[in-house]
Amino acid sequence: MARIETRGTKQVLIADGQPLALLGGEVHNSDASSPAYMEHIWDIAEALGMNALLLPVSWEMIEPEEGQFDFTNPRALIGQARERGMRIVFLWFGSWKSSECMYAPTWVKRDLKRFPRAQIEKGKNKAGRQVSPSIPVKMPYTTLSYLGAETLKADARAFAALMGFLKDFDGERQTVVAVQVENETGLLGAAREGSDEADSLFSAPVPADFAAYMRAHTGTMAPDVRAAVESGAESGSWSEVFGPAAEELFSAFHVARFVNTVAAAGKAVYPLPMTANCWLDKGGAPGSYPTGGPVSRVHEVWDFCAPSVDVYCPDIYVPQFKAVCDEFTRRGGPLFIPESATHSYAAPRLLYTVGHYHAMCYSPFGFDDIGHPFTAVQGFLFGMDVSDPALKTPQSFEEYAAVGHALRGMLPMLCEAYGSDRLQALSAETDPPVPHPSGVPFLAQQPTMDFGAFRVSAGFQGPMNPRGDGALLCLKISDTECWLVGNACTVSLSSGEADRPNLDLLLAEEGAFENGAWRPGRRLNGDETAHPAMDKPSVWHLKFFTYE
Ligand code: DGJ
Repeated sequence: MARIETRGTKQVLIADGQPLALLGGEVHNSDASSPAYMEHIWDIAEALGMNALLLPVSWEMIEPEEGQFDFTNPRALIGQARERGMRIVFLWFGSWKSSECMYAPTWVKRDLKRFPRAQIEKGKNKAGRQVSPSIPVKMPYTTLSYLGAETLKADARAFAALMGFLKDFDGERQTVVAVQVENETGLLGAAREGSDEADSLFSAPVPADFAAYMRAHTGTMAPDVRAAVESGAESGSWSEVFGPAAEELFSAFHVARFVNTVAAAGKAVYPLPMTANCWLDKGGAPGSYPTGGPVSRVHEVWDFCAPSVDVYCPDIYVPQFKAVCDEFTRRGGPLFIPESATHSYAAPRLLYTVGHYHAMCYSPFGFDDIGHPFTAVQGFLFGMDVSDPALKTPQSFEEYAAVGHALRGMLPMLCEAYGSDRLQALSAETDPPVPHPSGVPFLAQQPTMDFGAFRVSAGFQGPMNPRGDGALLCLKISDTECWLVGNACTVSLSSGEADRPNLDLLLAEEGAFENGAWRPGRRLNGDETAHPAMDKPSVWHLKFFTYE
């Protein structure tokens, strides 16, 4: 069965006994409901070099009548993945889907007494929520309450049934390697629920073990959460113990416990790795993002409440890509990106997350849009930064496919190096050159990967490389041999040894891996090695030596 293991400095997904990186793609929400529709989506995924798809499985489809389960849909999806030698991460669209309850079955939606809705306005099952401080529009909003005991019981039972099906149908084959529990949990429109029940729990004493845990784990906390915890009382109501952070921590406590109960019920049957994704807080106030969901500012709460959740995952549509990845890995967890934008940093980010973060998963959302012009809705969702043209340009299909296939072809080698410093990467988005005071571009300090005996620098800007959206990955084989995968960059190698400061290339060949075997193309020399440039997605095999 798939599992997570620590290898060197990283947590790595293991499937069929081998480390595996998911070069994934998440489908649009409705696609996986129809296996017939999915046929061409699988084709696109294959063409893009993906090895895994992230596919919703909805509560409403697997339990249309209470207690009667129907796994026709996930069974068909698994069959399609197997035919193509691909993996699946199922996304459990249960009580939550992007902070709402769209995918709950009708028998849950209609019984508001047994399955209460969250009250962001006291006494109201559905209320207007302000979209953002700058948009004075209130959108109708409803979701299930995180305090609903019957909701939790029903959701956990359905999820356990799904995991039971997966164990029986897929336990041997391991097509499904992880499951995301719920989707973008949390509450919009208020920092916490406002029902009478929520009010009374909020003024009751904070559980002592939780208060003590939070006080003992301030070291990694977001500064304002830390300040709130440190200046609060040791015991008392939520406001007394957690001051200004009380409402968000209250929501996180209840959401995380809910998700944990669902995850634990599933793991008791079939303990696949389980993830929880989040809609990022984007620096906003609680209530402006699904509050209580696993944003990094409440990871300590989730650690305490949700031990059955293995990985917290960011859905990244904001321009601050590296900042978010760093935030989600700062406490040693793996990088697992279930959703990210399909603009022209999509392919460089694939290369960069594998090479730099040794990512467990990188997955553009709605990947069948790659290569197509953005719709206005996508433009709004991706939060495009007008100062960076790359964020407004759709990813080229051909380039994503070339990078995807390059990585997929050598994936076992790359994954073998996960958790070691033999695998590194740079990208134009995250590693700009340091300009020289003279302003001469040739003198700018290029970003560099240090492999001890040798160094590899990438040129992402300048007269020989004007694009500004390149990326370069390097896998060290030995002190005198490496593999490069890159695009839109120039490359230079130098010695890292003070007593042997000169480096000469002995072999440079471009090519591709096919069925695990290296198929060399041109042997590069002359102009191609005097000014090495990857003008298109390329894989190079280099051998060299250093001397006095
Ligand atoms: C985030 C959600 O998790 C996805 O299911 C999808 O709705 C995207 N947003 C749409 O951009």
